[in-house]
Amino acid sequence: MLKLSALQLLLSTYLCGQAVFASPTSHPSAGKQQSPSWAAALGATCAKFNVAVPAKGNNVVAEGPRVDNNIDAVTFMWDADTWSHPNSTVRITGTIPVDQTFNIVAQLCVPSSGDKSEILQIATHGAGFDRRYWDVELEPENYSYVRAAIKAGYSILTYDRLGVGESDKPDAYTMVQAPIQLEILQQISLMARSGKISQLAQAQITSGVTLPKFSKFVHVGHSYGSILTSALLAKYPDSTDGAILTGFVLSPQTSKFSQSARGYQFAKELDPVKWADRGSGYITNGALYSFHTHFLAGGTFDPKLLEYGFDVRQPTTVGESRSSIAIYGLPAHNFTKPLQLFLAENDNPVCDGDCKGAYNLTQIRAALYPNAAVLEDYIQPATAHGFTLQKNATAGYQVMFDFFGRNGL
Ligand SMILES: *[C@@H]1O[C@H](CO)[C@@H](O)[C@H](O)[C@H]1NC(C)=O
Ligand SMILES: *[C@@H]1O[C@H](CO)[C@@H](O)[C@H](O)[C@H]1NC(C)=O
Ligand SMILES: *[C@@H]1O[C@H](CO)[C@@H](O)[C@H](O)[C@H]1NC(C)=O
Ligand SMILES: *[C@@H]1O[C@H](CO)[C@@H](O)[C@H](O)[C@H]1NC(C)=O
Ligand SMILES: *[C@@H]1O[C@H](CO)[C@@H](O)[C@H](O)[C@H]1NC(C)=O
Repeated sequence: MLKLSALQLLLSTYLCGQAVFASPTSHPSAGKQQSPSWAAALGATCAKFNVAVPAKGNNVVAEGPRVDNNIDAVTFMWDADTWSHPNSTVRITGTIPVDQTFNIVAQLCVPSSGDKSEILQIATHGAGFDRRYWDVELEPENYSYVRAAIKAGYSILTYDRLGVGESDKPDAYTMVQAPIQLEILQQISLMARSGKISQLAQAQITSGVTLPKFSKFVHVGHSYGSILTSALLAKYPDSTDGAILTGFVLSPQTSKFSQSARGYQFAKELDPVKWADRGSGYITNGALYSFHTHFLAGGTFDPKLLEYGFDVRQPTTVGESRSSIAIYGLPAHNFTKPLQLFLAENDNPVCDGDCKGAYNLTQIRAALYPNAAVLEDYIQPATAHGFTLQKNATAGYQVMFDFFGRNGL
């Protein structure tokens, strides 16, 4: 079995490590939104809408320095990386009850027809990106996971997590934390099942298209979004009919990619205009090279996609970083559905640059998903952590859809 310390290391690495897509120009914040340009060509319907998500859960009190400027940001990384400092478990000294309704911005896309349109994929992005991680706007035929899912016949829901993109951006220490993000994912999943999500999307659709009734619900995550999705399988196993976790695996190699390698800076100081609404504790890759190291180094990519990814990346929070240990690696003993771990061969934060031989699936099954109907892993070649930005991404998406298809999803 994996030792807790391995889990802990993974945890501390993941929390701070995601990049995001959010360019103000292509991401209007008000009014009805047209489908992405690819959607019309495929006969698909997409709608963007606000969801008032009531979330109740226990965030954590986690000790560590605040980040109010770039100097603090380096202190934050140094503090987290120094071997003799308290680990993330010890830093948690209490709970913060949260019972609040958050505004979450979501996009639902449905194909024009087909049996699989009744299967809804619910995709949760990682830290460092917003929902555009799944819907890359540059050469979408090569990179957009949403477009590929539609082409494969699926309906798909993407959303900006709390603190990200167009969703609410509350306190970065006490509010934007893993435990409440998990509750938000659960509430969104319940609202998808009850038809509420479809109702909100339908209200935005002027074309006369009637959305299908969804009969199955599967979950897809990336990085921090996979940590949340794995926790969903543990705490709310009945919420899903199957899942794929990308950019996340329990591995003894995970802890080696330091916080400092991410080159975090204080978002608002880095770009006071773009990130005017990110207060104390919102941090982001400060330079192109740190974004590159974090998400693309070792992979195969068109430099345009590196520039794009850096441009649309999103800040994460100190609270997300420090709280992930609270939900990280929860055993999902009651999860009985199919699960695929889809990994990038040259993932730096997850596998220290090489996922081959970096984990033991037998141990992972025993520790986390002993009753999964199916547990498979797949390593996408020549690809790094930010796999939707890499060459050959669509061939990887096909591997994921084939997994669902083999399992009746
Ligand atoms: C965290 O540190 C405490 C105190 O030093 C230690 O008892 C515990 O085993 C550590 N936890 C992990 C996961 O390393
Ligand atoms: C992107 O897609 C176009 C059209 O499908 C194709 O010609 C091109 O080779 C693709 N580029 C990459 C990097 O996959
Ligand atoms: C698993 O299911 C059993 C039976 O319903 C329940 O008693 C138990 O609390 C569940 N465990 C978890 C971790 O949810
Ligand atoms: C994986 O773990 C299992 C169970 O602990 C062990 O029997 C097996 O030898 C391990 N595989 C490798 C390649 O280390
Ligand atoms: C592209 O991805 C597919 C699916 O994982 C894989 O079979 C193929 O070898 C990859 N091609 C390259 C050039 O890496």
